Amino acid sequence: MTRTRYAVVGAGGRSQMYVDAIAGMYADHAELVAICEPNPVRAALAVSRAVAAGSAAPSTWHPDRLEDMIRDERVDRVVITARDDLHAPLIVRALDAGVDVVVEKPLTIDADMAASIEDAVERTGGDVLLTFNYRYSPRNSALRQVIQDGLIGEVTSIDFQWMLDTKHGADYFRRWHREKHHSGGLLIHKASHHFDLVNWWIHSTPRRVYASGGLRFYGSENAAARGLAPRHDRGTHDGEHDGFDLDLRDHPHLKELYLDAEGHDGYLRDRDVFGEGITIEDNLALVVDYRSGATLSYSLNAHAPWEGYRVAVNGTLGRVELDVIERGAVVESEGLHPVLDPSATDAGSSGSVRPEGERLVLQRHWELPVEVEIVGGEGGHGGGDAILLSDIFVGPGEDPLGRPADWRDGVQSISVGIAGNRSLETGLPVDVADLGIRLLRS
Ligand SMILES: NC(=O)c1ccc[n+]([C@@H]2O[C@H](COP(=O)([O-])OP(=O)(O)OC[C@H]3O[C@@H](n4cnc5c(N)ncnc54)[C@H](O)[C@@H]3O)[C@@H](O)[C@H]2O)c1
Repeated sequence: MTRTRYAVVGAGGRSQMYVDAIAGMYADHAELVAICEPNPVRAALAVSRAVAAGSAAPSTWHPDRLEDMIRDERVDRVVITARDDLHAPLIVRALDAGVDVVVEKPLTIDADMAASIEDAVERTGGDVLLTFNYRYSPRNSALRQVIQDGLIGEVTSIDFQWMLDTKHGADYFRRWHREKHHSGGLLIHKASHHFDLVNWWIHSTPRRVYASGGLRFYGSENAAARGLAPRHDRGTHDGEHDGFDLDLRDHPHLKELYLDAEGHDGYLRDRDVFGEGITIEDNLALVVDYRSGATLSYSLNAHAPWEGYRVAVNGTLGRVELDVIERGAVVESEGLHPVLDPSATDAGSSGSVRPEGERLVLQRHWELPVEVEIVGGEGGHGGGDAILLSDIFVGPGEDPLGRPADWRDGVQSISVGIAGNRSLETGLPVDVADLGIRLLRS
């Protein structure tokens, strides 16, 4: 069998899932021939990882030489796992060099860059596959199935709340995510997952967005207003730590990937969440109108004491509700530090009034509620990761749930965040058709 020749572009934390998959599980279908990464430490780690998983050593390339890499290594497809704002220029260059693209969410972070991808796809006829792993989570697939089966009739509205806790949510305020020009803010970086789920669940696309929100917890001004004592610029420091410090020396994996590599590019992984220079929001609320006529009310909080989400979909025949508690609490007590002690992640799972778990409940008009079974599989995210990776590296089979996604789904998902960011600036509702992206006008 001819194997597809892959290059991974951007060899940070997220790339590792793809390196492992290409070099390991999918080695019969795929071959990792190159790593494109400016930081020599992370590039070398990716090579060692690929070799440990059974691959021949891929060559390493600086991103300035992406086109040379594609030509010399006869690359068929690139997997882009670089910072969000770098996706669009890399996608366009890869397409122009004649290869197909697999890209992590978000597709990109603003309207101009989305339009440049649209132009490049049209110019080259290349494929751009988006990896929306949340679609593959069994609970999210189960909700889509209920709606697709018509059990709640026509969807009229959705209530969607997402809580990021002081462990995971805080982490978006330590590195590049904290700067809007790098991540688009949480409306793009994080919520594009959520807006994609809504588009996919209700089989519609957004039309108009009104957003409100701000930075109300993290950042130096909020810390000063709450009278917080002066803090270190970074979590990696000697002396007392609190739950918001991330000391990279306590995490061998993060240390080798970031602390040991920072001398080459100054990329700091552990900046203080109450430091200067944060330009993203930590509390957000949106109202989104869909072309189908449905309305979404959505909120995101990035400093919640527990992590999970609640979604309720109302329809002409009833209502379906999905409640998920991913982490019931982040507990800081003697000997149990939420960031430093991995066992702290399990705090709240037992003996708590908020046990971790998920529940999908369907209630049709004039009937008692019933719990809908969520059928999971083996491996990460309830078996979802395995199906996603197989769709990418073996090829999508017939999927009645329509989970595989391309650049169009990527554009539709970020259109809410791009319009939302514009609405935050202007205080007005924004029509996605006015964003300057042709796909959104049709
Ligand atoms: N689907 C998910 O659940 C999920 C989870 C995590 C991250 N992600 C996405 O994956 C991407 C990578 O995130 P991460 O956490 O691995 O970030 P990261 O910062 O750990 O890694 C990014 C890498 O890109 C490299 N890089 C910098 N400039 C580059 C350039 N010009 N060309 C190529 N590479 C360059 C950096 O040196 C770094 O090694 C982001 O788009 C993020 O949104 C998705």
